[in-house]
Amino acid sequence: MAKVQKRFVCQACGAVASKWQGQCVDCAEWNTLVEDAGAVVTPFSAKHNLQAGGRAFELTGLDSDIALPERASTGIKELDRALGGGFVEGSATLIGGDPGIGKSTLLLQATAKLADQGLSVAYVSGEEAADQVRLRARRLGLGKSPVQLAAATSVRDILTTLGQGKPPALLVIDSIQTMHSDLIEGAPGTVSQVRASAQELIRFAKERGTALVLVGHVTKDGSIAGPRVLEHMVDTVLSFEGERSHQYRILRAIKNRFGGTDEIGVFAMEQEGLSEISNPSSLFLTHRDETVTGATVFPALEGTRPVLVEIQALTVRLASGATPRRAVVGWDSGRLAMILAVLEARCGLSFSTCEVYLNIAGGYRVSDPAADLAVAAALISALSETPVASDSISFGEISLSGEIRPVAHGNLRLKEAAKLGFTRAVVPAGTGKEKSALRCTEFRTLRQFVDHMLRRD
Ligand code: TYD
Ligand code: MG
Repeated sequence: MAKVQKRFVCQACGAVASKWQGQCVDCAEWNTLVEDAGAVVTPFSAKHNLQAGGRAFELTGLDSDIALPERASTGIKELDRALGGGFVEGSATLIGGDPGIGKSTLLLQATAKLADQGLSVAYVSGEEAADQVRLRARRLGLGKSPVQLAAATSVRDILTTLGQGKPPALLVIDSIQTMHSDLIEGAPGTVSQVRASAQELIRFAKERGTALVLVGHVTKDGSIAGPRVLEHMVDTVLSFEGERSHQYRILRAIKNRFGGTDEIGVFAMEQEGLSEISNPSSLFLTHRDETVTGATVFPALEGTRPVLVEIQALTVRLASGATPRRAVVGWDSGRLAMILAVLEARCGLSFSTCEVYLNIAGGYRVSDPAADLAVAAALISALSETPVASDSISFGEISLSGEIRPVAHGNLRLKEAAKLGFTRAVVPAGTGKEKSALRCTEFRTLRQFVDHMLRRD
């Protein structure tokens, strides 16, 4: 008699527990554990090992001939860039993002472009009625594109339909959380349903050479809803980010088996859908004024692409002994605490009686460690009310000992800044050796930099 092992899966993070609990031990969410049909242990599988009876296959060397996969380039450069060149046949791509960020719009535009090139493209919406999608396509001026459209949620129906004729070159499933597989029990959106539906769709894509795109919703902590397992199953994970109140959207590759993971695509959400932004620096720099304190420009690097962003800091002195607030938008709060500690311990600047606010302008998120020096400059400028020259940029990594470390691609950053009219740069020692149009001032330690800024030297 086959014995079914009970197991419970957290719907928020995908952690597995052997018994039900009110709170998930992994992500600490409440009431998220749901019973999941686990693997069936048969007497046969329990008794036999797997060392005989299989089919032998041939092992080959790394230098054997390879057939490079075909890519379907969408013609939307920012999307192609994030994908590493285009959608790869027989691959699965997951696009995650907050509701309303523009995933459906982006994919509708991409499918229309591909269909216009003569590729067979199917768009299956589980969220919107076909008429709704059609209406949106018409509003975006894509009404004439030969995209095959359907509203469906049953994976069996979808695969039966698509399996009949020649399979489409691209299949978009919007979204995977609305899909339902009848191989397994449970409501759509549960971890086991999402996993089973995705598995079936991916198998179809691999067998038929279809490029599959799954849309995934994002939970409040930023991971793609339900299962992290989904991220392991697909070849490429893209995340579509941005503040809904801002126009700008960034498509970021998180995982890519067919390309780099540090590329981004930048878009603006407009009346006529998403438009490409080929020069993102102009977008994240606010109107710069000579007299402002607490603002510096940092040349961030996204993959091979420099993006100039403005870092803003504000310090507010507290009268009472209340615990001062530290609020960060667009940067890591742990990293801010570290920079504040280094400024305090190594440079004698005290922020302990100040509230500190740090903001990256334009709704951008910086993860580049080279931002340390620019953040420090903004903080010092805010605290001392000394303006930073509006034609200067700064970058460098700061260590706990207060040293300023060189960072990767200094040259690329300087070149982009020069292109946008900046004339001065504060850089780590050892960076400015190369020919640069900017006047570079090098610093070895944060203390030297602080002394220079506050004219203490
Ligand atoms: P949508 O693509 O439906 O988001 P998602 O699929 O990620 O949930 O985008 C919805 C938002 O985008 C909606 O709030 C309106 C806005 N939008 C525009 O501003 N311009 C447009 O041309 C379109 C189609 C949408
Ligand atoms: Mg949508």
